[in-house]
Amino acid sequence: MKADLKGKVALVTGAGSGIGQAIALKLAENGANVAVNDVDRAKAEDTVKRMAELTGEGFAVIADITKLDDVRRMVDETVKYFGQIDILVNNAGWDKLEPFLENTPETWERIIAINFKGPIYVTRAVVEHMVERRTGKIINIASDAGRVGSTGEAVYSGCKGGLIAMSKAWAREFARYNIRVNVISPGPTDTPLYHQLKSTEFGAKILSAIEKQSPFGLARPDDIANAVLFFADDASNHITGQVLSVSGGLTMHD
Ligand SMILES: NC(=O)c1ccc[n+]([C@@H]2O[C@H](COP(=O)([O-])OP(=O)(O)OC[C@H]3O[C@@H](n4cnc5c(N)ncnc54)[C@H](O)[C@@H]3O)[C@@H](O)[C@H]2O)c1
Repeated sequence: MKADLKGKVALVTGAGSGIGQAIALKLAENGANVAVNDVDRAKAEDTVKRMAELTGEGFAVIADITKLDDVRRMVDETVKYFGQIDILVNNAGWDKLEPFLENTPETWERIIAINFKGPIYVTRAVVEHMVERRTGKIINIASDAGRVGSTGEAVYSGCKGGLIAMSKAWAREFARYNIRVNVISPGPTDTPLYHQLKSTEFGAKILSAIEKQSPFGLARPDDIANAVLFFADDASNHITGQVLSVSGGLTMHD
């Protein structure tokens, strides 16, 4: 799909790799200027470099989304550089695949900090700015683990399910400010994180079995980015509070 995002500014978290990088490139290809956030400077700068030939401009903003002060600075830097934020994509995430009975409390804390608290911090900081301008699109990257549950991903599933519920509440609260909130719920997607999860014996067993059940196999990061583009564009203006599963048919019955 093609969209006209010229004059729009997007902030994409975790845009130095995988799905976030594909989203940042897709938005820039369609005209948006993009603030490329990542906690890893080299990765964010790599994404910005890949934008050189695209219509939209890239700007690297390094911040850890689990730290509220960092998040506020990231939003201030973005608004100072580009003047506004029209589109927020809460994409940064992390997971560890292992049975719940083997999780350590440190693993729970890290999963909750990145996947649940991070989007709260970022959304709060960005939405204050969007409310002032009475316009905005927020697109949250959840996971089908949060819709249907997933073996070895209990706390992650809880965080993503929480993100889905929170997005619906935000959609209700922010509609009066002309702000739309939607969710993309990817299934297994070919990214560095996915390969890391598959690198253990347990991970390989679980994910190989899931791949066999998916009618269209693994998603490419670009498949997720195409769905984000639709929610970023004015073509989806009559849609808010919705969850779109991009999972190659894996979860169509749930
Ligand atoms: N790959 C999949 O199979 C899959 C499936 C469903 C959902 N998702 C979701 O898609 C999103 C992207 O995942 P991916 O597979 O592209 O992962 P990835 O690891 O390839 O990329 C994630 C990026 O986020 C960055 N990041 C991590 N913690 C951060 C923090 N605290 N602050 C800022 N940046 C941070 C990382 O440095 C990395 O560049 C995540 O929310 C993930 O949960 C992925």
